Amino acid sequence: MIRASLLAAATLLAALSLGGLQAAEPDNHSPDIPAQLRSMMADPELAQSDFIENCAGCHGLRGTTVPAHLPEIKDRVGWFMCTPGSRAYLLRLPNVAHSRITDNAQLADLMNYVVFVLGGKSVPTGTKPFTGPEVAHERQFALTSVSLKAERLRLANVAIAKCRAPASLRLQYPGSTQ
Ligand code: HEC
Repeated sequence: MIRASLLAAATLLAALSLGGLQAAEPDNHSPDIPAQLRSMMADPELAQSDFIENCAGCHGLRGTTVPAHLPEIKDRVGWFMCTPGSRAYLLRLPNVAHSRITDNAQLADLMNYVVFVLGGKSVPTGTKPFTGPEVAHERQFALTSVSLKAERLRLANVAIAKCRAPASLRLQYPGSTQ
């Protein structure tokens, strides 16, 4: 009897851990860049390694850091491509506008990696990639940490109303308290 229940428990444990292994997405490496997105970047490998060097320390290799108090990029950042104003927000973020990457085309590539590769399905259909001149223009108007929160909320509301972004875009990540 004891043996039977031990065996049952062991089987259950094995099933659970196997299920766990299958369900968990490996988070310790960068995502593959889908073939159809490669043409959006002059140099996809450089864009990815620029993200790793300059951004992933805070945002994670795959753009996910839950439950840290940081906005989730993975499968969400694309909603901000909804309007010209909200796509400009992405280029005006302090860590983007003030990036040590001075070459605007190279920074555009990095941001296209962020939006199209990490943002996945959140990118509205028909969205055009960022260009060097667009980056050069927008990065002159960097947001400050004071103006950022209100601006983000305003633009999240626009994306929710106009591009059917989920209501949770107002939060840092779905289920977040901030
Ligand atoms: C030192 C940590 C840090 C680094 C490095 C960093 N970020 Fe961020 N990022 C943040 C924080 C914190 C926020 C939330 C807004 C704020 O306070 O700036 C943020 C916000 C964002 C957002 C907005 C997401 C949203 O939902 O509003 C994007 C996109 C982003 N960062 C991309 C980048 C990119 C691209 C880089 C690299 C060029 C980068 N970040 C580097 C910490 C960082």
